[in-house]
Amino acid sequence: MNETDTTQIGSFSRRTFLKSLGTTAAATATARVQSVAQELEKINKDKIVGPGDVPLTLKVNGQSRKLTVEPRVTLLDALRNRLDVTGPKKVCDRGTCGACTVLMDGHPIYSCSLLALEAEGHEITTVEGLGTPEKMSEVQKAFIHHDGQQCGFCTPGFVTACTAFVRSHPNASLEDVRAGLGGNLCRCGTYAGIMLAAVDAAKTTKGGA
Ligand code: FES
Ligand code: FES
Repeated sequence: MNETDTTQIGSFSRRTFLKSLGTTAAATATARVQSVAQELEKINKDKIVGPGDVPLTLKVNGQSRKLTVEPRVTLLDALRNRLDVTGPKKVCDRGTCGACTVLMDGHPIYSCSLLALEAEGHEITTVEGLGTPEKMSEVQKAFIHHDGQQCGFCTPGFVTACTAFVRSHPNASLEDVRAGLGGNLCRCGTYAGIMLAAVDAAKTTKGGA
């Protein structure tokens, strides 16, 4: 034991002081860790749902639709298999082809790549909500006018993506349209008609779609 260790301040040695300091710091750190752990546990408890079916309300094409789904179910599967909204198509099911495109709060998204639960509280619009055979939107009319489909499987996704595109690009050129609709694929290769339809719709709607 050296002199430093045995330095006394009253009956309190320097070593005792350092020891108690360490103990206090450790106790404080432990208390903090425990409180963070408790907080995390509470947050997780509030957030974790499932694994069984959970109730959900989706707003689709202006209507509130109630359903129950397992938390793992995608928006695309919920629309097609639970709500019978079959305009969005399931092709790649991995965010590559755009056949499942829907609008969420007006923005195009791949519905195969979003959980149905994540869509709650948002406005979902599918091709069915854009127009009807009796009252088609300008984009739908342009697709027919320019014969922008063959098998038609990609068409709902293209029409939906195109609707969002022309709203934000009222004077789009052919080059703009090619770039803007690059997230949608047509396996029949009907691109010429699709692109002309999009350019036409951009001119006709001037952002109004
Ligand atoms: S089915 Fe969703 S991107 Fe292909
Ligand atoms: S028209 Fe057939 S995949 Fe596009």
